Amino acid sequence: MRGIEDPLGNDRGACMKSPRERIAELRSAIIQYDYKYFVLDESDIPDAVYDTLRAELLRLEAEHPEFDDPNSPTKLVGAKADGAFAKVKHPQPMLSLGNGMELAAVDAFRDRVYKGLGTTDVQWVVEPKIDGLAIALTYVDGVLVLGATRGDGEVGEDVTRNLLTLDSIPKALLQNATWPVPARLEVRGEVYIRTDEFDLLNQRLVAAGEKPAANPRNAASGSLRQKDAKITRQRPLRFFAYSIGPVDGQWPDTQWETLSVLRAFGFVINDDARLCQTYDSAIVYAHAWMKKRDDLPYEVDGVVLKVNSLAQQRELGVAGRDPRWALAYKFPAREATSILRNIIVSVGRTGNITPAAEIAPVQLSGVTVSNASLHNADLIEKLDLRIGDTVNLKRAGDVIPYIIGPVIEARTGAEQPWQMPSHCPSCGTALVRPGTDVAWRCPNVAGCIEQRKRRIEYAVSREALDIVGFGEKQAALLVDLGLITDVADIFGLTADDFAGLEGFGERKISKLIDAIVAAKQQPVTRVLISMGITLVGTTVSQLLLQRFDSLAVLADATAEDIASIEGVGPGIAQSVSEYFAAPTNRALIAKLTAAGLQTSGGATRVISSTALAGMVFVVTGSFATMSREQAEALIAEHGGKATGSVSKKTTYVLVGSEPGASKTSKAAELGVPMLNEVQFRQMIAEHAEDE
Ligand code: IVH
Repeated sequence: MRGIEDPLGNDRGACMKSPRERIAELRSAIIQYDYKYFVLDESDIPDAVYDTLRAELLRLEAEHPEFDDPNSPTKLVGAKADGAFAKVKHPQPMLSLGNGMELAAVDAFRDRVYKGLGTTDVQWVVEPKIDGLAIALTYVDGVLVLGATRGDGEVGEDVTRNLLTLDSIPKALLQNATWPVPARLEVRGEVYIRTDEFDLLNQRLVAAGEKPAANPRNAASGSLRQKDAKITRQRPLRFFAYSIGPVDGQWPDTQWETLSVLRAFGFVINDDARLCQTYDSAIVYAHAWMKKRDDLPYEVDGVVLKVNSLAQQRELGVAGRDPRWALAYKFPAREATSILRNIIVSVGRTGNITPAAEIAPVQLSGVTVSNASLHNADLIEKLDLRIGDTVNLKRAGDVIPYIIGPVIEARTGAEQPWQMPSHCPSCGTALVRPGTDVAWRCPNVAGCIEQRKRRIEYAVSREALDIVGFGEKQAALLVDLGLITDVADIFGLTADDFAGLEGFGERKISKLIDAIVAAKQQPVTRVLISMGITLVGTTVSQLLLQRFDSLAVLADATAEDIASIEGVGPGIAQSVSEYFAAPTNRALIAKLTAAGLQTSGGATRVISSTALAGMVFVVTGSFATMSREQAEALIAEHGGKATGSVSKKTTYVLVGSEPGASKTSKAAELGVPMLNEVQFRQMIAEHAEDE
């Protein structure tokens, strides 16, 4: 070859290949060299070699017009001067999908399929419909030569260079035992961005002073259509394959096999795709899968139901732009547009002031919503939200919908800016904003009526004392009447207190009184939760009461003591010790005890043996076979108790490597025996044999 070594290894072999094969080989090589040169800024061949290969391709193309291809790299100049991408005509239109939101519409689709085929003998493939962009990848002799967007379905754009940056797109099809690589194959699928990576991308964009994308789909589209593929390369784009376009060679007979052959070629196939023998089982699967919507790492807008047999697909054909053999069974939309009518602030149980949006009622995820969360005043300012704005809303899962932002183009000039009130809307106290907090607070903890109501409402809620029939309304009414000021007061209420109150019949009163009496049996962990300490929920209250035996002991603990519990961070420790620094809160413990609630006894334990019954342990150091937390759990499980410091009451000190010096020396001083890990485990095991 003109004295230059051919990097394709064809010095002698070029003439052995058919012109068609050599043209395909040169095209794919040049695409990859272009990519390396323009995108990766690296070049692994000398310019002269590149020029020679390109010249050879031009010559062969001139000699063999029958192999003409508008997508040959000799015809492509990447992005054109005006920034547009080269147009690509799809050899087979890229269809869209008809869709149905109601099961009835999907049933109707099934009926059309059965009627069209004249049989009910149909298998179905159910696939997730990931919300991204459809693209088509052309492989010639197994090598990627072209990647195009869907465009209008007939003509898309050549984004090959950008698509080459995706790890999940094979640059060459894997030779495999499942299926021979066809001479030419178009693979279709979806480019998308995962939701977690989308959040990170937006953070990055904002930090760089750029505009964040509104949703993962827009981010994927914008990333794919970058003029500079170097930027695309930094974007977290992924690809999954779901079908093929034209194929030059053998191909299997079904969609299900199509997916497994594509997987064998090296494509990512969605693991949640299923082959279903009947329509009914397909629907059962689709419904079960739809429940996972909120747990998926990417946005989906529904499932796609496809007739499995490709022969049946061909028989059914296409109606307009939609295939008659597939349907998108869609979720209700999660984004909507409405009008921001007002912003109101509410006072929480710890005094936090939270703004919320009142919006014109709108359908979102299948329900009518008229409120949306706004998190904090900073966000309102950052979004530049104004009363009267047209706003975009989103609802993910069962949470309250939130406002993505205003539609600036819809502004008329009549919109009013909003300001955070300077005083508590409930008690009128000047609001404060401690340190770097984003939330404004009402500091009037004891006197603010609204905080009182919220605290009581929380204390009787399901995760705390769980008093059925007692909720927001009852809490507000009883506080307003001055019948209760804190959770302990609830237990002094009698039937007489309710008699004559609106909405309280005799039966209801007696039920409520029963529920109140029953709540006295709630474990101390729930009583602790009912006190409403910031950051103290179910798990933390259990951790705290495994270490400290009673609320009174916990109230006396220092922040360091509390923070020394595994799983309890300094933030929680500070919150707890600050809470008990207030005399009224300490007094509440006495009030709760006097009211007959469980304020001591430690966390409820599952006792699996009595090997360590009555023993008091102090655990120090680290162990080979368990964490300190696990050691403490083992002690509890076998009837013992783990405490924080060594005293005369300590039965054993369980010593691991690098123990606390103060604990071991105190044990030595008091003559408390020390056990190592092996002895400790033996003690449990021996007892188990006895049992
Ligand atoms: S099949 C004729 N399968 O949905 C078949 N499409 O609304 C058309 N999509 O343009 C494509 N996941 O961008 C198919 N598993 C899947 C899909 C899927 C997402 C997208 C695709 C298509 C759009 C149609």
